[in-house]
Amino acid sequence: MNIILLGPPGAGKGTQAALLVKKYGIPQISTGDMLRAAVQAQSPMGIEAKKHMNAGGLVPDNVVIGIVRERLGEDDCQDGFILDGFPRTGPQADSLKQVLAELGKTLDSVISLQVDTDALVVRLTGRRTCTDCGKGFHLQFDPPAEDGKCSSCGGELMQRDDDTEATIRNRMKVYQQQTAPLEDYYRKEGLLVVVDGMGDISTVKQTILAALQDC
Ligand code: AP5
Ligand code: MG
Repeated sequence: MNIILLGPPGAGKGTQAALLVKKYGIPQISTGDMLRAAVQAQSPMGIEAKKHMNAGGLVPDNVVIGIVRERLGEDDCQDGFILDGFPRTGPQADSLKQVLAELGKTLDSVISLQVDTDALVVRLTGRRTCTDCGKGFHLQFDPPAEDGKCSSCGGELMQRDDDTEATIRNRMKVYQQQTAPLEDYYRKEGLLVVVDGMGDISTVKQTILAALQDC
């Protein structure tokens, strides 16, 4: 199953991708996570990416396309993948099409998560992520058993650098301008499935699973 999860910052792409990984045993490919790892490692790419990410803008297409091209060619993507946060621009979508054609693969579904702007801000400001295993939590909607500690591995929880209110607003603006048009792109290809992302985590998961049964 080859899937894209589309949706604005905080829509639940990462949360739902992790649940789909468990269900289908295929990898989550999150360009955001890969870029944050490069920032952490202070690689030349990470140092360049950090400027864009902390401002809430997009990392240049050629950088992101290169990462995804390499990742999709790895063995664990043989039986499928869940793209989370890629593509985000028209050129990225065109490149994905080309890379998949080269690999002899096609997309099965593009799930677009719809969430109100006010709810997105609440979700992002309350998000906490484990510094060790990367598991995501929410202070109100998906709290850890113990304050500040990952319920899965006991690691320390942190707030992402780009989860400040000013950066969040910019990320949303960038999403509307550069990424939202991809809904039409994939609607024309007959792949778009619009999913109400306003329910709780498990309700949204059930809606996605039902949608995926049809593809
Ligand atoms: P990225 O990491 O992809 O960030 P994003 O798209 O802004 O999305 P988020 O990760 O913030 O939100 P999410 O949808 O995953 O929500 P989550 O599940 O965590 O990208 C970061 C940056 O990297 C970009 O700004 C850009 O600079 C760069 N970048 C990445 N990809 C790029 C690309 N392709 N091209 C160029 N640049 C790129 O949920 C959020 C919170 O809500 C969590 O706390 C969760 O517990 C909670 N939650 C989730 N679902 C629910 C629910 N149903 N009800 C209540 N709470 C919920
Ligand atoms: Mg995410």
